This record gives sequence, structure tokens and C-alpha cells, in this order.
Amino acid sequence: MKKLVASIAIAASLVGFVSVASAAEEHDLKAATEHAIEGGHFPVLKPKNQDWSFAGPFGKYDKAQLQRGLKVYKEVCSACHSMKLVSFRSLEELGYNEAQVKAFAAQYDVQDGPNGDGEMYTRKGVPSDHFPSPFANEEAAAAANGGAAPPDFSLLAKARGVERGFPTFIFDIFTQYQEGGPDYIYSLLTGYTKAPEGIQVAEGTHFNPYFAAATALKMPPPLSDGQVTYDDGAPATLDQYARDVAEFMMWAAEPHLEERKRTGFMVMVFLVIFAGLVYLTKKSVYANKEH
Ligand code: HEC
Repeated sequence: MKKLVASIAIAASLVGFVSVASAAEEHDLKAATEHAIEGGHFPVLKPKNQDWSFAGPFGKYDKAQLQRGLKVYKEVCSACHSMKLVSFRSLEELGYNEAQVKAFAAQYDVQDGPNGDGEMYTRKGVPSDHFPSPFANEEAAAAANGGAAPPDFSLLAKARGVERGFPTFIFDIFTQYQEGGPDYIYSLLTGYTKAPEGIQVAEGTHFNPYFAAATALKMPPPLSDGQVTYDDGAPATLDQYARDVAEFMMWAAEPHLEERKRTGFMVMVFLVIFAGLVYLTKKSVYANKEH
């Protein structure tokens, strides 16, 4: 009996501790938000650093993850966001064969023309087409989204690197940190939360402390648990979706990242060997000279 009472007491104090901790967190968030508004510095919170398979000098994209990210983009994000620079054909880099890419492209209707009568017409997509945009133009996109046009995805992952500040940016040179974009996108997608008490959020916007330009943005939280069905057994959770689509967007923005890293490494190896040779040459040329 005593044991039971003791464990209930411990459990109760743990619950108490957790709720105190989250209250403290909320207080911190409120303070951080007020601080950011005052100084005009956004985002309120720095992006959460994630482990990415493509990080570092030998980084490689995870093809299964890219395929899942494509699925999230297709089923959720593409309702609002275009990806104009990416062609269906390039999806072969995600591990699909020609027939699969053809079938994928054929699921889309693409505007083409003009035909012999000078009129535009719609046809099925082919691998050489690019992803069609959900809106006819930027104005239509903005009008449908409360005045803010959803940005094109083609280069977004490279365009959003939040400043990391001193001294982190110095270490970044050595660790070759280039994952600012995906870290930002992941944090934004998983970062929606209730606005802290006393913080005003404009009508039609959603509080998100990771948004780079303000305290709230016009995009409603696009993802939630169970929304997309994966067929490779990966967990159907918000966290997993956010990670997958962020890596996919990084691939869209920089499809040749692996090649670039490989070339960079070869160049470094060459430079080291070359420096050694130059040193030996210098030694042999000056071997009989007096100093
Ligand atoms: C209902 C339409 C809609 C859907 C669906 C949607 N978005 Fe957005 N998104 C927007 C709008 C609108 C903005 C511009 C927000 C603003 O500037 O206030 C935006 C902005 C963004 C931004 C840029 C934020 C910045 O720093 O400027 C990212 C990244 C983003 N969305 C990712 C996604 C991802 C990933 C998905 C799919 C999981 C998605 N969005 C689905 C409407 C949408």
C-alpha cells in the first residue's frame, strides 16, 4: 500500500513538473515573440537542426525519402504551390523508370497550343513537361490565398536559409552546413502552435514562431498526422511528412548536389597532392643553394 501511495505521489509530481515545464515554455515563447516584434527580427525561434542524409562532404539523397516527399507534394502542397522549373523527366533521379515517369506525367492535364485554329488546348502530360501550376498567374494565386501568393517550390529550399549568427556560421564553414533551407521548411511545417496569450495575430493568418518574415503567415497548417498514405511502411506522421517534403524540396532546388560534393572532394584531394608535389619540387630545386 505504501508503495502504491509513493508511486502515485511520484507520478503526480511528474505530471505537475511537466505542466510547469510547458507553462514555462509558453512563457518563454511569449517573451521571445515580444522581443522579436520589438526588434523587428524574425523568425522568433531559430530553425531546428535536423539530420539529413545529404549533409556533409559525402552526403547523398535518400531515394525512398524523396519518393515520399514527392507524394506529399503531389497530394497536399501542389494544390497551392507551383514547381515550374522541375520536369517530370527529372523524376527518374528519384529511382523511377521511364514507364513509371510516363504514367506519372499522364496523371496531369497540361495546357498546350496554340493549335491550327490559334486556340489553346489541354492534353495529357508527357515526361518533357514541367509540373503544371495550380493557378493561372501570381495574381490569381494571391487572390485565392488571402493576398499572399504561395511561393514557387523550384528553388525555395535554397532561397530560405535563416541567418545562423556568430559563432555558428564559422563552424558551418568546416562542417559544410548547407541544410538551412530544409531545416527551415521542416521547422515551419511542424512549428504551428497557439499564439501565446496577449500576442495579436492578424485575421486570416496563423501563428508560427519559425516563419522568417513575421509572427504569423497566411498558409494554414498544411499537414497533420495520417493525411498521406505511404506504401513503404514509413510512419504517417506530421514529423515524417515534413522531413520528407523538405528533402524533396532540397532535391528540386539542387538536383546535382551529390555530383557537386563528389567533384569538390576530388578537387580537395588533387590540391593536397599538388601542394605536396610543389613542396618537393621547391626542395629539389633549392637543394644545392646556400641560404
Ligand atoms: C491552402 C494553400 C496552401 C497549401 C496546401 C500549402 N501552402 Fe505553403 N504557403 C501558402 C501560402 C498562401 C504561403 C504564403 C504565406 C505568407 O507569405 O504569408 C505559403 C508559404 C509557404 C512557404 C514559405 C514560407 C516563407 O518563408 O515565405 C513554405 C516553405 C511552404 N508554404 C511550404 C508548404 C508545404 C511544404 C506544403 C505542403 C505540405 C504547403 N506549403 C502547402 C499556401 C499553401
